[in-house]
Amino acid sequence: MRNDVPRLQGERIVLEPMVLADSHAIQRLFPHWEIVRYLSHGLEWPYPADGARRLLQEVTFPSVAQGIEWAWSIRLNGKRRPLIGAISVADRPDDNRGFWLGLDWHGQGLMTEACTLATDYWFDVLGFPVMRVPKAMANMPSRRLSEREGMRLVQVGPRNFVSGRMPAGIWETTAAEWRSRKLLPPPPFQAQPLG
Ligand SMILES: CC(C)(COP(=O)(O)OP(=O)(O)OC[C@H]1O[C@@H](n2cnc3c(N)ncnc32)[C@H](O)[C@@H]1OP(=O)(O)O)[C@@H](O)C(=O)NCCC(=O)NCCS
Repeated sequence: MRNDVPRLQGERIVLEPMVLADSHAIQRLFPHWEIVRYLSHGLEWPYPADGARRLLQEVTFPSVAQGIEWAWSIRLNGKRRPLIGAISVADRPDDNRGFWLGLDWHGQGLMTEACTLATDYWFDVLGFPVMRVPKAMANMPSRRLSEREGMRLVQVGPRNFVSGRMPAGIWETTAAEWRSRKLLPPPPFQAQPLG
């Protein structure tokens, strides 16, 4: 089954369907300890020289073709559109979204933007009722992201990561919760005192 992954346009970034040519930029930006340490232990570490190409060809593209994964490169808007990270959503038990961002672009809220685009797609286009994501409790930036998205911690237990076995949580949000957060009215108007 062919699975069409669309381009998703954001304010500062664009999500482009992942292609094999992206493996060069991924190979350069991804294999850094700060990026991989809280990823699942299935990741080969130290990262092999052809790790990005193999991951795309042997794991990502077959899953996309099967219709169980939707994978994007994250690119900055503009003329050159450099690749700065990756995000995917997948129909896998308790593991529906994964992402990473190159070190130079951390801390600017860019992944929040990418997550909004991919999660809207998960609920509004693909029509899944629930999103669940696992993450190490120690992975504060990723946890903050889930907290800010209104996700609930529904399960806690040890899991194996690249940096070892440690406490982890499964975070969840439903389609209804996701939509209701987006429809929240703006904060009440504060009247300015006269005179
Ligand atoms: C997770 C990741 C994508 C976050 O990307 P980002 O664009 O920097 O995220 P944001 O700018 O939206 O910031 C995330 C939050 O983490 C906070 N944060 C950042 N570094 C932190 C730290 N060391 N300790 C505590 N909080 C931290 C930020 O202040 C922000 O919180 P806020 O919303 O309260 O201000 C990025 O850190 C990354 O690529 N990590 C490696 C891969 C990874 O762990 N992926 C997720 C696996 S579950």
